[in-house]
Amino acid sequence: MAGLAVNVDHIATLRQARGINYPDPVAAAVLAELAGADGIVVHLREDRRHIQDRDVYLLRKTVLSKLILEMAATDEMISIARDVKPDLVTLVPEKREELTTEGGLDVISHTAALEKAVAALHEHRIPVSLFIDPDKNQIEKAGQIDADMIEIHTGTYCEAVSPAEKDAAFAAIIEAAKKAAQLNLGVNAGHGLCYNSIKRFKGLTEIDEFSIGHSIIARAAMVGMQQAVKDMLKLVQEL
Ligand code: PXP
Repeated sequence: MAGLAVNVDHIATLRQARGINYPDPVAAAVLAELAGADGIVVHLREDRRHIQDRDVYLLRKTVLSKLILEMAATDEMISIARDVKPDLVTLVPEKREELTTEGGLDVISHTAALEKAVAALHEHRIPVSLFIDPDKNQIEKAGQIDADMIEIHTGTYCEAVSPAEKDAAFAAIIEAAKKAAQLNLGVNAGHGLCYNSIKRFKGLTEIDEFSIGHSIIARAAMVGMQQAVKDMLKLVQEL
């Protein structure tokens, strides 16, 4: 059965909108875990637009399931990760001007830098996942540079409008998940998934865990954090 890792970045977005100390992503993480989340995810961005260093350090002390730190492969972030020791680091590309992470890492063009980042994290026994598009060549390269897992970028599938585009994007995800599993890489998936788009993953047993944030936090604003997590967890567990 696939797991659900809940990304609480957008609780911090709400807090930072006013520059005050609520709502607290640490409290949201407690509620997500009480509702059954298998992990808590935060993205510490270079510009600190939502999650702050204080959140990451406090979550390390409070998360009981597992703490997944999304970050760019910069010296600053690697040094923070080596200090915090999350249960998993997911390396993501980061551009300051983007609204959210817009695409997967290009492991082929940045092989040396990513290999160095993976090794630096492994030195501190931190497993590493690479967030990549569902592309066979990228996946092979991820395996070659000793990544432990990949996270398949599901954004193209989620954003596709026509049924034909959606079918093609989902076919690429299936192929990518199977390829990664063949290479003995762990397989996570995420970005843009919601209470509808998740249903299509039924039967795709290669995926170990889904990483979902925005749709859960949006529902939490209406029905509460625990209910929103339970609703998604039920869908993930039915896959
Ligand atoms: N996975 C990665 C690597 C991400 O960057 C994000 C967005 O922070 C997510 C998953 C979650 O995406 P969403 O908030 O759209 O569910």
